[in-house]
Amino acid sequence: MQQFYFIHQEVFSWFEKNGRHDLPWRQTNNIYYIYLSETMLQQTQVERVKNEYYPQFLEKFPTLKDLAQASLDEVLSAWSGLGYYRRAKNLYACANECLEHFDATLPQEYKTLLTLPGIGKYTASAVCSFGYEQNVVVVDTNIARVIKRFFGLVDAKDALIWQKAQEFLPHTKVKEHNLALMDLGAMVCLPKNPKCAECPLQQWCQGKQNPHIYTQTKKKEYIAMELFFGVWIKNNKIALHYSKDNMYHNMLVLPNVEPIEENFLGSFKHSYTKYKLDVKLYEVEEIYEDDLIWVDVEEFESLPISSLTKKAYKIIRRTNNE
Ligand code: ADE
Repeated sequence: MQQFYFIHQEVFSWFEKNGRHDLPWRQTNNIYYIYLSETMLQQTQVERVKNEYYPQFLEKFPTLKDLAQASLDEVLSAWSGLGYYRRAKNLYACANECLEHFDATLPQEYKTLLTLPGIGKYTASAVCSFGYEQNVVVVDTNIARVIKRFFGLVDAKDALIWQKAQEFLPHTKVKEHNLALMDLGAMVCLPKNPKCAECPLQQWCQGKQNPHIYTQTKKKEYIAMELFFGVWIKNNKIALHYSKDNMYHNMLVLPNVEPIEENFLGSFKHSYTKYKLDVKLYEVEEIYEDDLIWVDVEEFESLPISSLTKKAYKIIRRTNNE
């Protein structure tokens, strides 16, 4: 918008000097890399994605086709530790649809992207803006905070935030503008102590006097849960099964058992998404289940084993060595 011309120039020059240009997914125009990074970054911090998961995943699955042709187990195994495994399953399903219908690449139309598994409004717009350099608005939580403060929108619903972000788009360099707002949100317009003195928007920002009224969100509610797992080891192999519950769906986990105090092996705490888990392990010598899979610890890295199960295994080993 012309009315923001001068403001945009300030934002661009701030971005040029201070933006996170070295992020690996910003140094490529490979659409698969960009899509993968957006999927990983949805619930995981930039540093962990950048240094660990993104490079390792791309080493295992260098192209969308490689990803689609792998097994779901291999993909979940590469995702192990990142949590929110539904993202990995959708990524895999999406890669398969792209292989089948879109020549092993992501389609360019925003509306078509929205039809693919796991791709919502944010990811579709991020792929279109950062990957295909289309002039579309992108709003993630960082950008939303910047927009809310800049326009003084208290208690605004998503639709209004997207509309205002759209109105704020420049005529040119839309991708840079979107990335600049994202970086402002991540580095300057912080939820708790925004660094207004460093912000290129400070002269015009309507939220500057009272920045905290835009971030009063509901406190994250945790669900406390106790889990009882059976530990059955035979010939150096441990009995696992594919989880059918929502939390670890399709991941290999220890089987659930009824707790019997005499067989108690150890316990540990584990946080997973919204769950605060109190995990208790019990030695068992029989489990009446048809679908047990006997796994050697050497195979842990190549199977879809959750970090909870790996943690449990460490405790089991420790107790066995005592
Ligand atoms: N650059 C492009 N997309 C990003 C994201 N989701 N988080 C951080 N940096 C990004």
